[in-house]
Amino acid sequence: MQPSTGRILQVCGYNNNVFDKAAPHFVSLFSPPARYRISRVDHLQANQKAWNQFAESGSLFAKTATDAECRNPLKTLDGRGWLPDSVAGLDVLCLAAGGGWQSVLYAAAGARVTVVDISDSMLKLDEQECRRRGFPVRTIQASMDELGILADETFDIVHQPVSTCYIPDLRSVYQEIARVIRDDGIYISQHKQPVSLQISHRNERQQFVIGVEYYHEGPLPQQTDNSYRESGTTEYLHRLEQLIGDLCVTGFTIEDFREPRRADYSADVSHYGYRGRFVPPYLRMKAKRRPRSPSEKTGRLTAGGLWIPGAG
Ligand SMILES: C[S@@+](CC[C@H](N)C(=O)[O-])C[C@H]1O[C@@H](n2cnc3c(N)ncnc32)[C@H](O)[C@@H]1O
Repeated sequence: MQPSTGRILQVCGYNNNVFDKAAPHFVSLFSPPARYRISRVDHLQANQKAWNQFAESGSLFAKTATDAECRNPLKTLDGRGWLPDSVAGLDVLCLAAGGGWQSVLYAAAGARVTVVDISDSMLKLDEQECRRRGFPVRTIQASMDELGILADETFDIVHQPVSTCYIPDLRSVYQEIARVIRDDGIYISQHKQPVSLQISHRNERQQFVIGVEYYHEGPLPQQTDNSYRESGTTEYLHRLEQLIGDLCVTGFTIEDFREPRRADYSADVSHYGYRGRFVPPYLRMKAKRRPRSPSEKTGRLTAGGLWIPGAG
C-alpha cells in the first residue's frame, strides 16, 4: 500500500452523502512543487510504516476499547465533560485516531463514526472491533491535512488524539477541520507540547537538556531521551503560537485548555513519569467552530487552503 499523496487510498463502511462534494477540489489541492512532494511522501511513508508496525505488534499505542470501557463510553472518552450529554445520531470524525479506541466508544454511544488515518493497519483495528460489536463505522485512509474526500460542514464533533506532530504544516490540518466541521461543532484535540519535543537528553546531574531550538523547522532529530516519542516516526515541533493561535485564526474559539498531568513521584529517573514532573508532555483543547460569516460561506477554498472572502 502506498502512502497518501492526495489520493483516496481506501474507504470502507457505510455510505452517505458525505462524499458528494469530494472530488472537485480534492484533485486541485495536491499540486505542490516537486521538492515539497518528495519530503511529503517521505514523512507520510515513514509514519504509515511505523504505525502499521505498532498496530501489527499489539503495541500499547494501538489499544482498542474494552468491554468495560464500552459500558459507559462517554465517561471513558470524556472525563472532563466536554461532550454533550448524548452524542447519539451525531456525525463524529475521529481524526488520525485509528486503532479501535475512539471509534468504538463513539459508536457505542450511538454516534455515526468516520475514522481517518494514514495507517491501514490501525484502521483495520477499527473495522475489526466495530464489526465484532455490530457497530457501523466508516474508515478512510488519508492524511489529516488533505481531507478532500469529505464534504464541507459534515461533522458535529471532530476528535483528534495526539497526531499533529506527524505533519509539518499544522495550519493546513486546522483549515481542513474548519471546513468539514459544522457551525458550532466541537473540536477536541490533544497535541505534544513544544518544550517536550525540545528535550534531547538527561545530563550527568539527571537534568533534562533542551537540545532542540524552539524555532526548529523540518523533521525532528532522534534523541537519546525518547520519552513521549514514537520510534520510527517522523515528527515536527509546532510552537504554541501555531497550536493555539492558528486554531483561533482558522475559525475556532477555544473553550477549555488543559495539560494532562503525567508526573509520577515514585518513578525512576529513566521513566517517562519522572520526566513528566518537569515538563508536561501534552496539551488538550476543547474548541468550538465559530459560525461561518456570510463571506466565508460564499468564499471558495483555494489550492493553498485559504478562504477568499466573497470569491466564488
Ligand atoms: C496516537 S495515535 C492515535 C491512536 C489512538 N487511537 C489513540 O488514542 O492515541 C496517532 C495516529 O496518527 C496517525 N497518523 C500519523 N500521521 C498521520 C497523517 N498524516 N494523517 C492521518 N493520520 C496520521 C497514526 O497512524 C496513528 O494512528
